[in-house]
Amino acid sequence: MDFPLFHLDFIGNRMLVAITAITHVIVNHPMAVGAIPLATLLEWRAWRNNNAGLDELARKITFVFFVITTSLGAMTGVGIWFTTSLVNPDAIGSLLRVFFWGWFIEWIVFVLEVIFIMIYFLTWKKLGHTGKKGHIITGAALALFSWLTMAIITGILGFMMHSGSWQPYFWQWSEQSSMFAAFFNPLYFPQLWFRTPLALMTAGLFFLFLVPFFTRKNDQVRAPAVRMLSLWTIIWLPFAVLAGLWYWNRIPAYLAEQTPVAVTTQAYTSWYQTILVLLVIMVVAIIAVSAFGMLKPRRLPRLALIVPFVFAMALLGYFERVREFIRKPYIIQNYMYANGFRIQDYPLLKQDGVLKHATYVTHHTVTEENKVAAGKDVFMLTCSRCHTVSGINSVTQKFDDLFPNRAWQPQQLSAYMANMHNVRPFMPPFPGSDAERDALAEFIVDVQYRPIRLEGAQSAAPVKQP
Ligand code: HEC
Repeated sequence: MDFPLFHLDFIGNRMLVAITAITHVIVNHPMAVGAIPLATLLEWRAWRNNNAGLDELARKITFVFFVITTSLGAMTGVGIWFTTSLVNPDAIGSLLRVFFWGWFIEWIVFVLEVIFIMIYFLTWKKLGHTGKKGHIITGAALALFSWLTMAIITGILGFMMHSGSWQPYFWQWSEQSSMFAAFFNPLYFPQLWFRTPLALMTAGLFFLFLVPFFTRKNDQVRAPAVRMLSLWTIIWLPFAVLAGLWYWNRIPAYLAEQTPVAVTTQAYTSWYQTILVLLVIMVVAIIAVSAFGMLKPRRLPRLALIVPFVFAMALLGYFERVREFIRKPYIIQNYMYANGFRIQDYPLLKQDGVLKHATYVTHHTVTEENKVAAGKDVFMLTCSRCHTVSGINSVTQKFDDLFPNRAWQPQQLSAYMANMHNVRPFMPPFPGSDAERDALAEFIVDVQYRPIRLEGAQSAAPVKQP
């Protein structure tokens, strides 16, 4: 509440973060965390068997992921910082207080990773056959660093979903307030052991997808490479599925209940079963193609290599969406709601109102005259992290679906909002006072008839001293 409120009223703040984060995961799981050990393994095999063709294939594939990860991968990685800090500075601030050293180490590891990948790719040809051993060791170190960045971030992601026995620091030190208590949360290992084989498996699919671009059908190297990559892909699949089930079982039940909405969106929850079937079909397709590639590597058509790769990308994207969604209503479980308000502050805010304690608003109290304008401030503070006025997930559209008669009464909306967290548990309870809730209802009724595109709030109103 002490920060300016950034707001995108067309695509919505959630979508901005989602696009950045999902792109990052789709790039970095298969093309960095999974790809580097696989490229190093291929290089090592080529070296042991004196197979120059395989070495060249591994180098060419490395070129592709080198370019993509150091541009799109790195940009979206930093982009996650920019977008999440803009959209929910309170949450990032709280996470920084807990994970300061974790992030500090992460940055060092990340910088080392970038240096290593430069060395690894740029010296591949220069070192030649004699320097191979050193080059392969560089690849192994790079693989380790790239996995470590994921292993650190996973601690924070898991914590946001399930804070376990962690206790916020309230002026008295307790072991349960330490970074370690937060980092080794109940979801840490299941999520890490799920992401690791998933990255390795999808890297196999990514390599398979590229092989036809870099080899001709009758090339000596093609069939053994396809066979090896298919084997690699299929080996990791059961680990990913088992760890996925473990992870699933550890997710608190009340979060897991939201999966149907997470997988589809509220309007399409009836498609949930269909989408689950599609997910199973995707997994089966990945198995089928890898099995085919192992048995008949020469026969595997190009199209068959594209399909599982695209499927795997879709799967990865979906997992991220579901993970982000089911964390609701919290942004940090049992500590802060996704609207940026701490649970512990709710009693105070209910009594005083949110406007009184907010910096970037135009009104600090609700009066008879300023209801609509104050309601707009309340909307910015309590709904705009997730809803727009007239874009994606628009609040007027949502009320329209609920009360389609279009003649809303402010009391009707206010009564709904007092209870909305019970009806829709993915939404946090309304944090402010009753007067603020009524003002918000006035504002929503007003924008129903006079649609606006809401701007962010960057300027603060002077606080009147009583
Ligand atoms: C944590 C994010 C979040 C916050 C904060 C939030 N909402 Fe929602 N809200 C959602 C999501 C997600 C949906 C369902 C979207 C879908 O899939 O259709 C939703 C649905 C709704 C619906 C339709 C519910 C139904 O029963 O169909 C209304 C009305 C609504 N929100 C109003 C509000 C108002 C008013 C506020 C602010 C006081 C608010 N929301 C705050 C995330 C949020």
